[in-house]
Amino acid sequence: MTTTAPETGADPTLLRVRDLTVGFTTAQGPVDVVENLDFDLERGGALGIVGESGSGKSMTSLAIMGLLPKGARRSGSIEFAGTELTGLPERGMRAVRGDRIGMIFQDPLSSLNPYYTVGTQIAEAYRSHRKGVTRRQARTVAIEAMERVHIRDAARRVDHYPHQFSGGMRQRVMIAMTLSMEPELIIADEPTTALDVTVQAQILDLLAEIRAETGAGLILITHDLAVVSEVTDHIVVLRDGDLVEAGPVERIFTDPQEEYTRMLLDAVPRIDDEIGLLRTTSAAEEGR
Ligand SMILES: Nc1ncnc2c1ncn2[C@@H]1O[C@H](COP(=O)(O)OP(=O)(O)OP(=O)(O)O)[C@@H](O)[C@H]1O
Ligand SMILES: [Mg+2]
Repeated sequence: MTTTAPETGADPTLLRVRDLTVGFTTAQGPVDVVENLDFDLERGGALGIVGESGSGKSMTSLAIMGLLPKGARRSGSIEFAGTELTGLPERGMRAVRGDRIGMIFQDPLSSLNPYYTVGTQIAEAYRSHRKGVTRRQARTVAIEAMERVHIRDAARRVDHYPHQFSGGMRQRVMIAMTLSMEPELIIADEPTTALDVTVQAQILDLLAEIRAETGAGLILITHDLAVVSEVTDHIVVLRDGDLVEAGPVERIFTDPQEEYTRMLLDAVPRIDDEIGLLRTTSAAEEGR
């Protein structure tokens, strides 16, 4: 304990995950759905976590957020900006979650309440983390956040309800809500899976832009390697809760070491062509 180096703020590692294991007790006995996982995220870095359905991607992110379902066991270490999260009581975790670590999920509708305007929801989320902020100030924060995610006419749109937005725009609203807190880390779990390809490309561009602008770290979770290649610099490949391989994006794409990674890559035909096409389409859409 006494050998811990003093906090200088110079540690380039934002998130250090060691030996993370998540397990459940099922009718068949105990099962580990994430096993002895190790990875690091540098400050301002972007990490993709990829793998097939059921490989443990969401459980990994929920373990980091302290949001695992009831009955889940978690062991190992999750160090965020020098603080060990696994030891934090719920009260301490609530100060981190949503504020210093923001999350974006696949389905923005399930995270937005249909009965309140998006502005109210962004503003109230903000006020719940910033004591003493007035409704009026929070509304200004909401409008600014909506502008930052390129929602046109934000000062008017802030008073609209979730159903008045398209799927892509709702995802922008969620990203605005996350951004308003100025998190140090953003975890996006399949943020574009529910969207059509054109809108997917726009949301990925937005995430890349936000990362560059804010210097926030990003963890992007997806089953789709084409998605991570656009936005992240490192990749962790998961299969059945195990780390299959990890490394820089270029290396994984040009020289995959494992058959499983090759299989995921094969599921992405002509990535460059596809992305080129998406870019062109999305530029055309935005120019309309
Ligand atoms: N409450 C639970 N009890 C038992 N097993 C569970 C429970 N919740 C999830 N699991 C299992 O944990 C494993 C990992 O689930 P996880 O949601 O992390 O997968 P994923 O990689 O996010 O998949 P997807 O791409 O479909 O979102 C799965 O096999 C899932 O069935
Ligand atoms: Mg998942």
